[in-house]
Amino acid sequence: MYPQIRMRRLRQNILQPMFRETRLAKDELIMPLFFDENAVKPVPIASMPGQFRYPLSCAEEVAEEMKAAGIRAVLLFGIPKCKDTEASGAFAENGVVQEATRRIKAAVPDLVIIADTCACEYTSHGHCGILCGKELDNDASLLLMEKIAVSQAAAGADMIAPSCMLDGQVLAIREALDEAGFSNTPIMSYSTKFASALYGPFREAADSGFSFGDRTSYQMSPANRREAIRESYLDEVEGADILMVKPAGFYLDILRDVRESTDLPVAAYQVSGEYAMIKAAGQNGWIDEKKIMMESLLAIKRAGADLIITYFAKEAAEMLP
Ligand code: PBG
Ligand code: ZN
Repeated sequence: MYPQIRMRRLRQNILQPMFRETRLAKDELIMPLFFDENAVKPVPIASMPGQFRYPLSCAEEVAEEMKAAGIRAVLLFGIPKCKDTEASGAFAENGVVQEATRRIKAAVPDLVIIADTCACEYTSHGHCGILCGKELDNDASLLLMEKIAVSQAAAGADMIAPSCMLDGQVLAIREALDEAGFSNTPIMSYSTKFASALYGPFREAADSGFSFGDRTSYQMSPANRREAIRESYLDEVEGADILMVKPAGFYLDILRDVRESTDLPVAAYQVSGEYAMIKAAGQNGWIDEKKIMMESLLAIKRAGADLIITYFAKEAAEMLP
């Protein structure tokens, strides 16, 4: 008798669902949202079809829409009215993310609000902190991140997500939060973040493009695997509650490596460029967009992500049981 092992036995359609190894769930999806102080109505983001920069006046409505779709958590980004070299809009008491947080919390208290903690949307030069000449000044920028994180927590953010890739960012923010009375506010660190061209559409969305240079002196080289694990390990030692690999789809090997080298929850960020590529091919009729969306998210989950940050969160949640 040949073949002796028949893999197709358990693939029969009636049996197959019993042997599914990976399942996506709504609770693990995080939806990024952009709030723009200059907008008066939702402004479509050209390179990210279906995504908008929302005015603050839409905060309640958008939050309710997310909740209705079954979304548990959102990740907030802000576009301020004024940018300066100190990123003062990022830690202002009435800053755009702080205001959006208050409005969403008041309207939909059980929607988890995660605040992206960085300066690039708020600096006139577009870099992720304070500059010294043409270079990002690490330790001066840490003080800035502390101020941003505390102001976000004070506005009601449930979680702080530093994305600046500064050395020591988690420890600095942890101490600042504790001192300000926010010892219960978790930190989800963008612990392994690569200097990727896949952030292109985001920079249009958040108006955070840099006026010179690039981010390769603080974000990681896509070539480095050992360094990627070390970056996440250091953030764990500094007290991160959740680690992250970003981008996701091109970095599934790194995601698996980080997953296996820590017991912390690990998030993966399916970034703007990943979303844009799938949307563009879908709109051209070259791929089946919904199927590719689900396949891409399933692959990220299978590689080891506990949480997935994705611009598809709402669409995917609507399709999940
Ligand atoms: C800010 C930040 C960026 C992203 C998340 N937070 C941009 C960058 O680092 O240049 C990228 C998200 C995306 O592309 O979807 N530091
Ligand atoms: Zn930044």
